[in-house]
Amino acid sequence: MEKPARPVVDIARLSKSFGEGPTAVHALVDINLTINTGEVVGLIGPSGSGKSTLLNCIGCITEPDVGEIRLDGREIYHDKWMIDDLRRLRLETIGFIFQFHNLLPFLSAWENVAIVRTLMGEDMEQAKARAMDLLGYLQVDNRANSPPAKLSGGEAQRVAIARALANEPRIILADEPTAALDSERATIVIELMKKVAVEREAAVIVVTHDEKIFSRLDRMVHLRDGRIVDTERPDHA
Ligand SMILES: Nc1ncnc2c1ncn2[C@@H]1O[C@H](COP(=O)(O)OP(=O)(O)OP(=O)(O)O)[C@@H](O)[C@H]1O
Ligand SMILES: [Mg+2]
Repeated sequence: MEKPARPVVDIARLSKSFGEGPTAVHALVDINLTINTGEVVGLIGPSGSGKSTLLNCIGCITEPDVGEIRLDGREIYHDKWMIDDLRRLRLETIGFIFQFHNLLPFLSAWENVAIVRTLMGEDMEQAKARAMDLLGYLQVDNRANSPPAKLSGGEAQRVAIARALANEPRIILADEPTAALDSERATIVIELMKKVAVEREAAVIVVTHDEKIFSRLDRMVHLRDGRIVDTERPDHA
């Protein structure tokens, strides 16, 4: 049975500027956005429109100026951080995926995933078992012993997704995850994200310019000059 959707990311009147006075850049202006479990939402917009800033505010990396952020029902930011240990919050709640995979070059694929579990306090044997499960789930377990340099772009990105899932995050944030992939690989990656969102009751937020994946998104949120100017639901083929 599918569980009813519930909000995992809930943002109200969020603003963020860089600098002050006449040269200030208003990177985010009065953003209101709610994202539910099971959803894959795209942040779309021209360069400089605030996509990465919004992702980084949700990921508790960038501090907003004002507004509210609730993550998985918890009040995280209310005109100031409401949580003392943001590092721990990130580790427990959020998985990040970047444009270029950012895997550690001196570790094998499985070690890159397992390291997250060990950071959470799991012993290496269990961490490895969990890493192998995840690599299997993403259909890249046959490359478990390879270092990142020996993986194809699509394989490395799937390992990076496995790593982002290793802490069982409720929120997955991805900045241009498919930019370096061909159309077929990009589609596989985005479909895996949808599967994760539904099966693990997570919310996935993807910054993307990649038109190849637009039709796979549940919702496209268009940003311009730091504001949400439009939200659309792509027609699913
Ligand atoms: N740390 C910072 N210091 C100063 N200005 C910043 C900083 N980070 C972002 N900005 C500015 O805020 C605005 C929004 O930037 P952001 O990185 O969110 O854009 P983006 O939509 O992700 O663009 P791109 O598609 O190029 O990645 C831009 O004008 C940018 O120059
Ligand atoms: Mg960006």
